[in-house]
Amino acid sequence: MTHFSENYQTLEIAHSLVKNRDEFLSVCKNLSDVCLIILPASQTPSQLDQPLQGVGDLVAEVSKNLGEKATLVVLGEVIDLVQVQAQMPDILMYQHWIAIKRGTIIDGNQRKLPHRHFGALVYTRYKASLRHTKTRIEYTYCPVCDKTTKDYGGKKHTYHEAGTLISDVWRDIACELNGDLSTVIKRFADLFGLEPYRTLTVIDTKEIGLYRQANPIVHIEFQENQLPEELTNTIINGDCLEKLKLVPDNSIDFVFVDPPYNLKKKYSGYLDDLDIQDYFKWCDEWIYELSRVIKPGRTLALLNIPLWSIRHFLYMQTILKYQNWLVWEALAFPVRMIMPAHYTILCFTKGESRELPCFTGGSEHIRLSSAPTSFNSFEPLADDYCLRENCVDTRIAAKINDRAKLTDLWSDIHRLKHNSRRVDHPTQLPPHLMYRIISIFTKPNEIVLDCFNGSGTTTLTAHQLGRKYIGIEASEKYWNLSNERHQEIQNGLDPFRKMERVLTSKNSPVPRLEKQVYKVPKKTLQLEVKRVAGEIGHIPSRDELSKFGKYPIEYYDKYFVSWGEVTAAARTNGMTEKRTYNDNDGHKVTQQLRLLESKAKFKD
Ligand SMILES: C[S@@+](CC[C@H](N)C(=O)[O-])C[C@H]1O[C@@H](n2cnc3c(N)ncnc32)[C@H](O)[C@@H]1O
Repeated sequence: MTHFSENYQTLEIAHSLVKNRDEFLSVCKNLSDVCLIILPASQTPSQLDQPLQGVGDLVAEVSKNLGEKATLVVLGEVIDLVQVQAQMPDILMYQHWIAIKRGTIIDGNQRKLPHRHFGALVYTRYKASLRHTKTRIEYTYCPVCDKTTKDYGGKKHTYHEAGTLISDVWRDIACELNGDLSTVIKRFADLFGLEPYRTLTVIDTKEIGLYRQANPIVHIEFQENQLPEELTNTIINGDCLEKLKLVPDNSIDFVFVDPPYNLKKKYSGYLDDLDIQDYFKWCDEWIYELSRVIKPGRTLALLNIPLWSIRHFLYMQTILKYQNWLVWEALAFPVRMIMPAHYTILCFTKGESRELPCFTGGSEHIRLSSAPTSFNSFEPLADDYCLRENCVDTRIAAKINDRAKLTDLWSDIHRLKHNSRRVDHPTQLPPHLMYRIISIFTKPNEIVLDCFNGSGTTTLTAHQLGRKYIGIEASEKYWNLSNERHQEIQNGLDPFRKMERVLTSKNSPVPRLEKQVYKVPKKTLQLEVKRVAGEIGHIPSRDELSKFGKYPIEYYDKYFVSWGEVTAAARTNGMTEKRTYNDNDGHKVTQQLRLLESKAKFKD
């Protein structure tokens, strides 16, 4: 079992190999079921940069013909999905970009990171959040400690024995776009196996005659310039568009930006919305400035959510050369239906990229105390191993090789939770994400620029790694904060060290409650709801909980943000982090119990 969907009826799968545009149109005409279009895969590594000509127009035309209840999935290479989204008519609602792991790695040519994923774009003809079954994927277990590869900390009681809720990165069913896709197809058939759907129509377009063509190569041989001394190793307070004017053309070795995402604004579909158009017009302006200041052959890396990255891609491809679409799977706890768990780090270069310092030996992995022991910039942790520190220590002592090849799919760096390494900034990035990025793209002493420098993660990590830096930050508060933290490095302190702090800012749009002292721990309250549910045979309503529960109902009102959170443990059966095995009587036992039992038997 690769996944488990609750209350589903798997869809019947109908395959269709279309040979021309008309056939394609007629298969989709008025189809109000689930439609899965498979775009042709690239045949050679270099084709990964060459879009299928006309693919956006074709898929758009076909999509307009779909019936009003249809769900549409388009499977394809990153470069093609970008063109599909660019042309998609507004009647189709964008829902998700799912990154799917490739079975085999496609090597780059030292000028980019090897490729490890393709994608699925999910759309609906209806205007509501995506309707699909609650789907879980099995937990995976570390071969050394036999515990789940993810550390579920204090929340184990709200997790499910059948597995973890699905996210938008599928690594458990690695497959090839031009190979056997049956596991992916089966997952979509189960995921959408709800009324009114009956059939998943799979449309293979490999014989339709689409061909790939490279975008014209931009050769750039401008003179490199020096960044003036007075700007080197400084953070400038001010607006990026204004302050970037101080930076000479072709003077920066690497740009990284994590801009504001404009997510608080209401939008119905981004092309329709004037606010969002203003946002992207502004983005295009600073992207243009950044491409002016980077040196030829160097990289501009931009972190954003996948949908916004598509829009950035469309603009960046007009002035720069596409290098990598990095998938950073960042979230630790999947808690809702198809949990958005990843960010895109879009990498473009000015003209042809130089060979990357991580491949030429120009850059080395530097071990820094603020990164977890398991972290290595160039050798990520292999998928099957856990991040628990004691297990990592065991593996080091036993010289177990738990490393994988560095590719464009990263899942070994968790985003910062509300832990003691956070400072007072709402969207602070983990320092080791930046250690990896800076070590891949730069050599010591080269200049790193971030014009949305926030709490300073980019410039601070550049500083720690022996690179030069220049940061720009509009907020005086964050500008001060980052300057203080650079001063800490000068004083021999680690700015990312753990500290006793009470934070005011939060990293989530979900409403949060005031920090408070709980008279009864939230976990105990949730487990009490579970007990009551067991007693009355269903999830209790608020009235039932106040009647049968042993704690005052006011605690639930005060401590939780929703009834869903109150009843979270009652809706699952909790989990043990240890792998369980069936004993001779069919009961589930952990490995430890199994060993104890076999020892007891041995004694007998
Ligand atoms: C997503 S945060 C960056 C967080 C940063 N990566 C970190 O780890 O702390 C974006 C930052 O851009 C800043 N910002 C917003 N508009 C700006 C502008 N026009 N010029 C410069 N900085 C700006 C915000 O104040 C915010 O600190």
